[in-house]
Amino acid sequence: MKSPVVLLSEQEIQTRVDELAAQISADYADVDELVMVGVLKGAFIFLADLSRRLTVPRTIEFIAVSSYGRGSKSTGAVRLVMDVRGNIEGKHVLIVEDIVDTAHTLKYLIGMLASHRPASVKTCALVRKAERAEVDVEVDYLGFDIGDEWVVGYGLDYAERDRTLPYIGVVTPDD
Ligand code: IMP
Repeated sequence: MKSPVVLLSEQEIQTRVDELAAQISADYADVDELVMVGVLKGAFIFLADLSRRLTVPRTIEFIAVSSYGRGSKSTGAVRLVMDVRGNIEGKHVLIVEDIVDTAHTLKYLIGMLASHRPASVKTCALVRKAERAEVDVEVDYLGFDIGDEWVVGYGLDYAERDRTLPYIGVVTPDD
């Protein structure tokens, strides 16, 4: 496979993460605990950078899901692989996703976490492929909208490769 072609540089990502952190810190200024729920595996780098830049008290949880019909085609059926460990009842929850593609995962997660009866549930995603949306889900804090292309880096992978690149790049699988 050819090397990824840079779509969002390390500097562009870092600047946007700073902006999102400032916005989230302002919005939750009066909250005594924000529970950030990272969606494994892809959100681990974004969550690490974002969480360290917040100025409000926060705790970290992780959740893992898998969708049936893997690859670049999602069937829309999402399965919970690992739930949050802590009790989130009555707390303010922010779901931190790497990328929103068809939006089935985020829709499922909002419903699933809401069933734990938190005080609020909001969503944050670094990247969204707006034109691929199959369900309508609001992203409260969005890094970037991109086109319909497969991207890697900054936590995102293609068959487990390229997750740790500092930038986000487009890959084109070999024919
Ligand atoms: P959705 O349920 O279709 O929104 O899919 C979301 C999940 O698909 C993400 O959390 C990623 O794991 C994966 N995904 C979708 N597009 C990409 C991409 O371009 N690169 C890497 N992972 C992707």
